[in-house]
Parts: sequence; structure tokens; C-alpha cells
Amino acid sequence: MLAVAVLAAGKGTRMKSALPKVLQPLAGATLVERVLASAGNLQPERRLLIVGHQAERVEQQLSHLHGLEFVLQQPQNGTGHAVQQLMPALKGFSGELLVLNGDVPLLRAETIDQLVSQHRRSGADVTLLTARLADPSGYGRVFADPEGRVSEIIEHRDCNEEQRQNDLTNAGIYCFNWEALMTVLPKLSTDNDQGELYLTDTVAMLDTAMHLEVSDPDEVNGINNRQQLAQCEALLQQRLRDHWMAEGVTFIDPASCTLSEACSFGQDVVIEPQTHLRGRCQIGDNCRIGPGSLLEDAELGCDVTVLQSVVREAKVGNGVAIGPFAHLRPSAVIGDQCRIGNFVEVKKSELGYGTKVNHLSYIGDAQLGTNVNVGAGTITANYDGVNKHRTIIGDESKTGANSVLVAPVTIGAKVTIGAGSTITKDVPNGALALGRAKQLVKENWAG
Ligand code: UD1
Ligand code: CA
Repeated sequence: MLAVAVLAAGKGTRMKSALPKVLQPLAGATLVERVLASAGNLQPERRLLIVGHQAERVEQQLSHLHGLEFVLQQPQNGTGHAVQQLMPALKGFSGELLVLNGDVPLLRAETIDQLVSQHRRSGADVTLLTARLADPSGYGRVFADPEGRVSEIIEHRDCNEEQRQNDLTNAGIYCFNWEALMTVLPKLSTDNDQGELYLTDTVAMLDTAMHLEVSDPDEVNGINNRQQLAQCEALLQQRLRDHWMAEGVTFIDPASCTLSEACSFGQDVVIEPQTHLRGRCQIGDNCRIGPGSLLEDAELGCDVTVLQSVVREAKVGNGVAIGPFAHLRPSAVIGDQCRIGNFVEVKKSELGYGTKVNHLSYIGDAQLGTNVNVGAGTITANYDGVNKHRTIIGDESKTGANSVLVAPVTIGAKVTIGAGSTITKDVPNGALALGRAKQLVKENWAG
């Protein structure tokens, strides 16, 4: 049997943030979600999260994760104290306990798999992940023999100068034999620089402790401050871009673009500089996005171009051209071969095949048919100050420049709206509608 416990009760003092450290976001997911995902392959029988600082907020944020047990640590008296809190919850449990620090978010699932299988093979009481770091400052130092047997871990701040020369560091990821750990946990003491109970002290108390050195030290980066957060973000972004380049996506200037893990791309997509994709974006083949665009939870068909634009929670068909300077907002559904031009905002509206909104328009709460031509400056006036109302425009209709369509209003098919009209009444199929003052011309006015 395997149980996984994530240590997530600390405040993260060095972050200087109102947000608990484990809820800090990294490429669109919180640190703790990433840590939990790294143990995902193992299908553990139990998953426990130790919470303390702002426990309610952490629990609430993770309430979508099924089968996660929350264990409260109050007050937070160190990582050893945190694991002591598991004793009632794991009473009668037998098997391995995998302990993961909640602030080590770049671990690969394969590395965790390797740790657990090495632990099972060797029969040690604990096997922990280590790394040799160019700059080990701040990390606990691991003292081990050439066969991989660990004698003790000493925290950076408790090391003397000579001990600090040891660059073998503790990653904060351990696979314990739970029965063995249970016997030493109550014996921990606070005899250290921080006056806390250290989980790392159990290593010297157990009969056999082994370590597994990771091949890629980047994986075990711990996050204690904003600089380390930024370094991890950069590493994660590079991983994501490398992955998608291997899958056939072109980045013109990779370092200037960011992605979230939940994005997916078809083939021959080109991402131009300074383009950012957040949330769950799905991008079809041959799209060209950027330069300078932001997409969030956007779905694009194939052959779409998005230039200097923002697309959020919107769905775009095939062969659509968007921008420059367009804004697609939630529930905009753009049909195939549409054109959304400069300074156009579309919200909660459906546009049929081939419809064009080329310049300076607001389309909100509307349904436009196929091949509609929306004239420059056309506005759907959807809000009466209290409620939102819908505008419907039939196939092949045209609105003149500067039309205002006051909703609720239905414009039929093949309608022409004269430029400068304010339309407040429904217009039947095939009609011309004019809603503006007649032009008055007074000759010789200048005298
Ligand atoms: C810890 C390790 C150190 C290791 C490093 C790797 C100890 C004593 N030291 O140090 O050897 O090199 O991680 O990143 O374990 N937490 C609780 N309750 C507490 C205190 C902490 O749940 O009372 C949680 C934190 O939320 C965090 C994790 O434990 O997710 C690690 O705590 P942190 O204070 O960051 O430990 P480090 O000083 O980084
Ligand atoms: Ca840490």
C-alpha cells in the first residue's frame, strides 16, 4: 500500500505574500497542484495534504480534487511536526509513505516512480531524492557514503563551514517505510537553529537510509522566495515550449512567449513574439498567433490568424482573421471564414459563416447569420441600464457605418441599414431601414 502526503502547512514567510506559498501559481497551476500531479502515476491508496497556514483557503482551492484528505497542523512547528500529524490518520496503515514538500513543483512523475521502485527494491527504511547543486545554499546537506547509504541530513543553517562544502542536497522528497517512521517520529527534538521539529532528523534515527540522486538538478528546485518562483517559471516555460516545438510548433522568439500546461496545438502553428496562452487553449493546424497576443481558454480552428489581439473564453472557427487590436470576450463564437477587424469587441455572440465585423464595433448578446457585413462603428446597444437584451441579424444583411441597434431587436435577412441609423424596431427580411433625422440644408447660411 502506498500513501502520499504533501507538506503544505507553512506560511512561506520569505515570499512576503498574502497568499499561502503552496497556492502561488506557476504556469497556470498552483505549486501544490503541481506537486500532487508529480505523484499521479503511482495511483496511491491514500492522498493526504497537511494544511495549517490559511488552511481553509487551501482546502477550498483544492476542493475539486477528489479523494484528497486534509490533515491540520496547528501550529506549524516544522516539517517533522507536520508529519507527526499523520499518525492518527494513518493508524493501522502499513506500506510506504511518500512525503513531498509542497514547494518543490518541477518534479517529473518518472523521477518519483524511480524513487519508489528503488525504495521497494532495496528494502531501506527511507529513500530520499538528492541533487548536486551549483549553489546549494539554503538546502539541507545530505551526508552519504559511495554506496548511497545516508548517515544524516543537516540543514544549511545548522552546518559548520566544512559541512557547507558538501553540495549533495536534500530535495525534500522521501519514500518512508511507514511502520519504521512511526517509531522514530515521536522522538524528534527541537534542538536546532530554528527550534523546530525537522523531518530530516528521522533519517539518522532510522536503520537504513538510502538516496537517489536526480540526473536533472532543475527538477528539485524548491521555492522559498520570488526569485526562485521566477526561475521555476522560466524552467517550466522552457519545458513547455521545447515539448511543443518537438510536436511541430514554430516559435519565432521562444523566450518572449509563455504557455500553460493545458494548451494544445495542431501542426505548423506559428507563435510570433510576445504571445501568451493561458488556461485551456486549443489551437488548430496552421494558425498564426501574434505578435503581441493574449489567449486564455480560447479554442481556435485551423488556419486562424490572431494579430495583436486578446481572445478569452471564445471559440473561433476555421480560416478566421482576427485583429489587429480585436477583443473576443467570453462566449464569443465565431464561425468559419469570419473576419474580426481592428478595434472590434465581441461578447456572448454568435457569428455565422463568412460574417465580417471589420472596424470599430461592439457586438454583445447578439446572433449574426451568415455573410453579414457589419459596417464600421456599428454598436449593439445591449444594456438598458438594468438588463441585457439580444440583437438578432439575419443572413446577408448589412449595417451602415455608425448604426446603433437598440436591443431587443431583430433584423431580418438581406436587410440594409442606412448609415448613422438608430434602430429600435424590428426590420423584416429584404427591407431598407433608416433611422436618422432627415438632412436639412439651408442655402446661403453663411450670408
Ligand atoms: C526543507 C528541508 C531541507 C530541504 C528543502 C528542500 C527540512 C527541515 N528541511 O527546507 O532539508 O533541502 O526543504 O526544498 O525539512 N511545512 C509544513 N509545516 C511546517 C513547516 C513546513 O507543512 O511546520 C511545509 C511547507 O509548507 C513547505 C515544506 O514543508 O511546503 C518545506 O518547508 P520549508 O520551510 O520551505 O523548508 P526548507 O527550509 O525549504
Ligand atoms: Ca522550501
